[in-house]
Amino acid sequence: MENLILCHPRASSGQDPSQAIIVKCEVPQTIPNDHVLLEVDRFGFSANNVTYQALGEATHFRYFEFHHIPEAEGVSSKTHGVTPVWGFGTIIKSTHPKVHPGERVYGYFAPARYLLLQVSPDVNKYAFFVPRPHLPPDRRPYNQITRCAQDPLYDPSPTAEDLTMLYRPLFWTSFWCEDWLNSSNYKGGSAQILISSASSKTAFCLAYLIRKRNSLQGSSTRRVIGLTSTKNLAFTKRLALYDDVFDYESSDTSLVRNLAQGHWIYVDVAGNDALNARVRDHFRVCGDSELVTCISLGLTNVSASTIEPSSASWGFGSEAPQGDDPKLEHFFMPEWLAIRKQQLSVSAITQMQKEAWTRLMSDCGTWGVSLRRVCGPDQVKAAYEEIVRCGLAPEDAFVWSLCGETEECGSTAKL
Ligand SMILES: NC(=O)c1ccc[n+]([C@@H]2O[C@H](COP(=O)([O-])OP(=O)(O)OC[C@H]3O[C@@H](n4cnc5c(N)ncnc54)[C@H](OP(=O)(O)O)[C@@H]3O)[C@@H](O)[C@H]2O)c1
Repeated sequence: MENLILCHPRASSGQDPSQAIIVKCEVPQTIPNDHVLLEVDRFGFSANNVTYQALGEATHFRYFEFHHIPEAEGVSSKTHGVTPVWGFGTIIKSTHPKVHPGERVYGYFAPARYLLLQVSPDVNKYAFFVPRPHLPPDRRPYNQITRCAQDPLYDPSPTAEDLTMLYRPLFWTSFWCEDWLNSSNYKGGSAQILISSASSKTAFCLAYLIRKRNSLQGSSTRRVIGLTSTKNLAFTKRLALYDDVFDYESSDTSLVRNLAQGHWIYVDVAGNDALNARVRDHFRVCGDSELVTCISLGLTNVSASTIEPSSASWGFGSEAPQGDDPKLEHFFMPEWLAIRKQQLSVSAITQMQKEAWTRLMSDCGTWGVSLRRVCGPDQVKAAYEEIVRCGLAPEDAFVWSLCGETEECGSTAKL
């Protein structure tokens, strides 16, 4: 059986990281004990995966260390990395007594046709885990393979699976980030939140959740302002999730007027040093407003070609303010979730997530996002190259597959 795996050159190898290749190799005939072989039916691809690739070699994140790199066609773990993706698959072989062929699973997979994974002994009816002792223990959410049959959030309809691949990895970041902000009463009562890359799913899901918190608390005291690029301004306004939206080029005076007064939190999803320096300058000249904290949440403006391969940090890079400037914080979902798991029972977390996911599924239909399904190795490679050339448009959501073509291949659907 032939396997296909999407691989990227490592920036540290001196090659251009955006030159993706699809490597062909053989699926092992016999699989070791306590392993599963799954067919990765399809997976989502968004700016989140571009960030995984950009941070593949970064010492804090190590995204290239989740999956084996094939040794074939001039590719090796020294020269290439595999960028993880969130997707659905079906187990086709198992040598673990508690996991069975035919099971539908969701997890943090390789962008491949087939994937061989080891199963650690702590299998339960909801999930099993891939042992990755070389990575920090807080990466456990990435090691979890969810068994769909027992997943309270699972809906087997193809549209629901598509929505899961697109929103689940991002929505939980936005959800736990809002929970983290709320746990500090929004950093001591800040009533205004500014979010960059406001058209990205992570950013607008955060805006959506802040508004939900407002309505649950019966108040609209927290205002959410989005910053986005000119080409994405209309989409971001149409979402109707922000109180106001400005483009990155907004004249200094209009931005200053709108950032005036009160305590502000800046959530940076773009990771653009020049923009961050401008935002801080705006607050410096506004005597009646205070930027309480800058939170680094994403890096949509960064690609594998623009980041230092050995970078240990993200966001606010070399422009990080010193002295009396606002506090800088990084939000990394697995780290906060590990803390919440000490504070809340598993059933309380499951209930919170179930309620939030059910609300999202009924609300997201109005956001005007279209799904683009791309199947087959040449088509997936071309779609990746289009992203490198043109970026990701916020109204497009991608689901890719390296398996055989189905009727839906190449289709676009309104979600
Ligand atoms: N901290 C965490 O734990 C965590 C977890 C999940 C995701 N994240 C991060 O959140 C970010 C957003 O991910 P997403 O999947 O939600 O994004 P997405 O929906 O795919 O975002 C698309 C947006 O990214 C911006 N963008 C795309 N290509 C660009 C390019 N070449 N240059 C500059 N900007 C570009 C544009 O926004 P604008 O025009 O509005 O700038 C575009 O609308 C990612 O960096 C991701 O890694 C962080």
